Amino acid sequence: MTENSHVSGSYWLETAPGEPFQKLTEDLEVDVAVIGAGIAGLSTAWELMRAGRRVAVLEAGRVAAGVTGHTTAKLTALHTLIYARLRRTRGPEGARLYARSQTEAIERAYEITEELGIDCEWERRSAYTYVCDAGRTDELRAEARAAAEAGLPASFVTETGLPFPVAGAVRVTGQAQFHPRKYLLALADDLVAAGAAVHEHTTVLGLDEGEPCRLSTDTGATVRARDVVVATHYPVFDRAFLFARLSPRRELVVAGPIDRSHDPDGMYITPDEGTRSVRTAPHGEDRLLVVTGEHFTPGTGDTRERFDRLTAWAHDHFPDADLTHSWATQDNDPTDTVPMVGPLHAGARHTYVATGFGGWGLSGGIMAGRLLTALIGGEPCEWGELYDPRRLKPAVREAPAFLKTQAEVARHFVGDRLRPSPPLESLPPGEGSVVRVDGHRLAVYRDDDGALHAVSPRCTHLGCLVSFNAAETAWECPCHGSRFDTNGKVIQGPATRPLEQRDI
Ligand code: FES
Repeated sequence: MTENSHVSGSYWLETAPGEPFQKLTEDLEVDVAVIGAGIAGLSTAWELMRAGRRVAVLEAGRVAAGVTGHTTAKLTALHTLIYARLRRTRGPEGARLYARSQTEAIERAYEITEELGIDCEWERRSAYTYVCDAGRTDELRAEARAAAEAGLPASFVTETGLPFPVAGAVRVTGQAQFHPRKYLLALADDLVAAGAAVHEHTTVLGLDEGEPCRLSTDTGATVRARDVVVATHYPVFDRAFLFARLSPRRELVVAGPIDRSHDPDGMYITPDEGTRSVRTAPHGEDRLLVVTGEHFTPGTGDTRERFDRLTAWAHDHFPDADLTHSWATQDNDPTDTVPMVGPLHAGARHTYVATGFGGWGLSGGIMAGRLLTALIGGEPCEWGELYDPRRLKPAVREAPAFLKTQAEVARHFVGDRLRPSPPLESLPPGEGSVVRVDGHRLAVYRDDDGALHAVSPRCTHLGCLVSFNAAETAWECPCHGSRFDTNGKVIQGPATRPLEQRDI
């Protein structure tokens, strides 16, 4: 954390650092290669291993340290407000399949936790979507009805465990929460114990879709596999242009101990106020309060103010909270709200993708593991069609959201190039900006010691200009959410190549 940074780092990563996994240094030949070791990748690899496949997992960073290591870690089938909309867009059967697939994922996580004896702070809790605005209660009543009709134990309530009144809430009982990294590190260890390969710090640079498929990596080693799963959050290989149907959304998290007597005893989310999400976790004699909110498009606006607003909200509603941790997470919202899990593109025979989980990647990732294992094994899965990335009809229905997403991208691609450039001398320590030097545009960061670090501002994904996020000391691309450190190294895709270094 730099002097000016607002982030201390994820509590989940700090409390479960884990042992390192080796880089891939030798060529491998396996049945299935999984790219990405978040919850979707590891769940898929683990299910495939249990189905008797030889598996390799390749992770560009560290296992369960990307989005999954920064999540709120709620395991619920109640995804804010989705069932009334699913009923409209996919019909009652689509809503029912969605509810069942997500519920079965939660129960699958419980089975695995029990079977492997994972100490991952598993707790059963009710999940609530609440509003404080009385004008929205009809919307919540409709959501409660639709969720119940989809098969969830859902009801409309006005009493919750929150320390403030709400106008109404949808409650779904029997959901769960856990420590995501403890769970996933155990899965990774179990994979290795069973003979699977798990490699960190191994970036896959190329995917050749032959028979077998061939992956090239930045370590020089290659992997040959009959099937390949791309589970990199935002797909790094994307012949079907799925990225055009995904909108990146960043959210902030603050956390710290509260007295056990103030535990709201549930998992809460509201679509009000730029989203507020609340849960607690075990923390010695106390409970750890975890509050998430302030969603925004990466690379837009001052994130420090957003952290201040979220912190103030947490203190207002939980006055005894001692907020010790802050971090941020990133989700991809699909234009039709349903994740994309299945074949990578229309002509794909042996390549698969899992992406677009919105803010619900834990149950979604576990669901993806089971679905992809069925698809690779040639077995039927009732919800295969629901999540199929090649779905066409909903693409028509999602046209307005799709066009809005593309208009935003175009606005950034063109508009950000017209932005006036501030003088370099005015850049204070801890800040970064895109400036013009000798007629060239540079992304320049001044560190706490006053030294300047310059990289190309052109995102290596599709060329939009990056913006600086001072609260997290990172360059962010507003078009599809790629993130880079101050030396240009990729923190988050879809970009896979660093921003080019520049002299200054
Ligand atoms: Fe697509 Fe930057 S992430 S252009």
